[in-house]
Amino acid sequence: MANVTVIGAQWGDEGKGKIVDWLASRADAVVRFQGGHNAGHTLVVGDQVYKLSLLPSGIVTGTLSIIGNGVVLDPWALKSEVAKLESQGVSITPENFALADNCALILPLHRDLDGLRETAAGSGKIGTTGRGIGPAYEDKVGRRAIRVCDLSHLDKMDPQLDRLCAHHDALRAGFGEPPVDRAALVAELKEIADFVLQFAQPVWKRLKKVRKAGARILFEGAQGVLLDVDHGTYPFVTSSNTVSGTAASGSGLGPNSTGFVLGIVKAYTTRVGSGPFPTELDDEAGQRLGERGHEFGTVTGRQRRCGWFDAVLVRQSCAISGVTGIALTKVDVLDGFDKVKICTGYRLRGKIMDYFPAHSADQAEVEPIYEEMDGWHETTAGARSWADLPANAIKYIQRVQELIETPVALVSTSPQREDTILVRDPFLD
Ligand code: GDP
Ligand code: IMO
Ligand code: MG
Repeated sequence: MANVTVIGAQWGDEGKGKIVDWLASRADAVVRFQGGHNAGHTLVVGDQVYKLSLLPSGIVTGTLSIIGNGVVLDPWALKSEVAKLESQGVSITPENFALADNCALILPLHRDLDGLRETAAGSGKIGTTGRGIGPAYEDKVGRRAIRVCDLSHLDKMDPQLDRLCAHHDALRAGFGEPPVDRAALVAELKEIADFVLQFAQPVWKRLKKVRKAGARILFEGAQGVLLDVDHGTYPFVTSSNTVSGTAASGSGLGPNSTGFVLGIVKAYTTRVGSGPFPTELDDEAGQRLGERGHEFGTVTGRQRRCGWFDAVLVRQSCAISGVTGIALTKVDVLDGFDKVKICTGYRLRGKIMDYFPAHSADQAEVEPIYEEMDGWHETTAGARSWADLPANAIKYIQRVQELIETPVALVSTSPQREDTILVRDPFLD
């Protein structure tokens, strides 16, 4: 099993970017397979900070980086991200970056609709990133999407545009908005087409070749299992499947290619946007986690909600995604607490639950049952070996892996690439 699939096991922002970047030097290709530029993956290398939303995190190490068919692609967001990274000295060429020609596009009309719906929903809003992700996936499933390959046949696009505009014009009218400016849309697509097409290719074929040559593939998930459209806290989820299985369908390789499933798990819990969050803290401890962890969204700058580690949720995510081992990140953020808590179960109307129920009313009502452990006052920040960790931090990590029934493969102790403890090499498993 030479391949590794990285997925978030909570509500996103677990530190996937840092771990993918760390693993990328051991990989021959890094592949994004779902989501879009709603993702925000932060990589820190020395005094350079890279913030990636669409490009696979392997691009910074120069590893072949691929956007698979499962991603919804905003061509203008891609162009500005490429320009931003190039200004940071990262080279992005058709040699080291490929884009699936069958990716569905995110268009300005999708962003409009995302915003219109959120505004209309008022306090019932999902709290999306406003990037048009949901509407773009809807159009893909509704068979009216414009795809990357369509950019090379702009003169043949009329029937598709008819279908797309008929759908959106009706929706827009409902919001009191003017119809889609079709001529402007075509002109914008014409302008961006060459930029996108230089990277476009049948990615499944490229990956087949890479795989045949015995190369190591690293699949980079976005968001997290609790934001999965099936398994997450529906309807407060994103619009794609974020579980490990999507690595296969979203890249064009079979399920036997996804290899070691590495679940990225934050040592506490955060969430950005609306939705249930059983262990959320609105006290000093929550504030402290937010401040020490710099919990502000990479994409929207929104403050992330913070809470104690929820072992029930992570155990469920690991089971659903077939996680082989986890990378436990941001352990250093827990430094200095006298006591730390872990949620080990829920109470729902007097009944004890060992899993997170599917109904949103039940999800909102469950009360966490906590186990309290002694914290540690020594610093773990920057630790690179198990021996550098204080005894109570080790006890905490061991208790986490026991409760989630999944072993720890890596521990991360700072945003820096090298501040990582390797317990079990996912590529050698
Ligand atoms: P992603 O979406 O899963 O890639 O995570 P984000 O990049 O959105 O958020 C994780 C944040 O935590 C980023 O600012 C990282 O630089 C930072 N980070 C990652 N690992 C660690 C860690 O072990 N310790 C600390 N203190 N910060 C970390
Ligand atoms: P990374 O890859 C955290 C959340 C949004 C919102 C919900 C739906 O950085 O972990 P969407 O725009 O996808 O329709 O929003 O999903 N969300 C994320 N939260 N990290 C992310 O990505 C997220 N991508 C989407 O905040 O609650
Ligand atoms: Mg993020």
